[in-house]
Amino acid sequence: MPWQRLATRGTVVGMTVPTLTLNNGVTLPALGLGVFQTPPQETRDAVTAALAAGYRHIDTAAAYGNEREVGEAIAAADLDRAEVFVETKIWISDFGHEETLHSFDKSAGKLGVDQIDLLILHQALPSEFEKTLGAYRALEELLADGKVRAIGVSNFMVEHLTQLLDRTDVVPAVNQIEVHPFFQQREVQDVGREHGILTQAWSPIGGITHYRDSGHASALTDPTIVGIGEAHGKSAAQVMLRWGLQQGRQVIPKSTKPERIAQNIDVFDFELTADELAAIDALETGQRGGPAPEQVTLEAFGRDIPEA
Ligand code: A2P
Repeated sequence: MPWQRLATRGTVVGMTVPTLTLNNGVTLPALGLGVFQTPPQETRDAVTAALAAGYRHIDTAAAYGNEREVGEAIAAADLDRAEVFVETKIWISDFGHEETLHSFDKSAGKLGVDQIDLLILHQALPSEFEKTLGAYRALEELLADGKVRAIGVSNFMVEHLTQLLDRTDVVPAVNQIEVHPFFQQREVQDVGREHGILTQAWSPIGGITHYRDSGHASALTDPTIVGIGEAHGKSAAQVMLRWGLQQGRQVIPKSTKPERIAQNIDVFDFELTADELAAIDALETGQRGGPAPEQVTLEAFGRDIPEA
């Protein structure tokens, strides 16, 4: 896939990223910056480094506690608002029709934007699915009102997607789920694809496997992935991102380090072979790094999302 330097109206330059088109015609870059686990005090610098490197999609969440800093970095960059695709997520404590409408106001206020490009539900609440539906219907309303450009979900399993599709009107544009070589969720991805729902891969380089320090091997040191990288003169992280992109996923690697942020976007000048993709597919372990979506409850995971 060719790439070129990106010229913008200001001093910000970097690589161009190909775009993907969502099921409602809205486009977004195929690769963005994730800021899960990025402390607020490091977020501004990380987002600034990403924008300078050419990233034009930032994925945050009300529950990350860093929306304000994401917004400040975007505002400080020499870019038009329309050049940066901003995504955030409604936390489960704000589910319900009125609560979710209000949660949009909280997030938009912290981000300093009038319109959010992509607003998604962070998790399903399986034991209180009516509340999940109420929250999603509020997203549908925000979409109809032009307050958001696209809506979607995150960490939805097949049964959650099926119930949602049965009982609401707007097919989600995305389902953001954990996907890396050690945990690939192929069935959820397939069901999404059948309905035109883009899979966004969170932890696309398997970072969740080392955050938890649970004795799992890190995908970053896996010999198969490292070996494929050596054949292309690329790092393990770059190989995993390429694997995700070539399989049609949108990828949102997280880093706070400018050199890694730059490395992670430098993935548009090489191509993995079918055999290399298959070798990475074969690394599935069946072990999830994040919390089991079926077990997410307000009791266990509820937390107040501040007004400002
Ligand atoms: P750091 O923020 O210190 O760079 P994921 O997005 O899959 O969850 O991965 C994020 C994790 O991987 C973070 O711990 C991040 O640490 C680390 N990381 C991000 N990019 C790279 C890279 N290119 N090489 C090595 N580690 C990376």
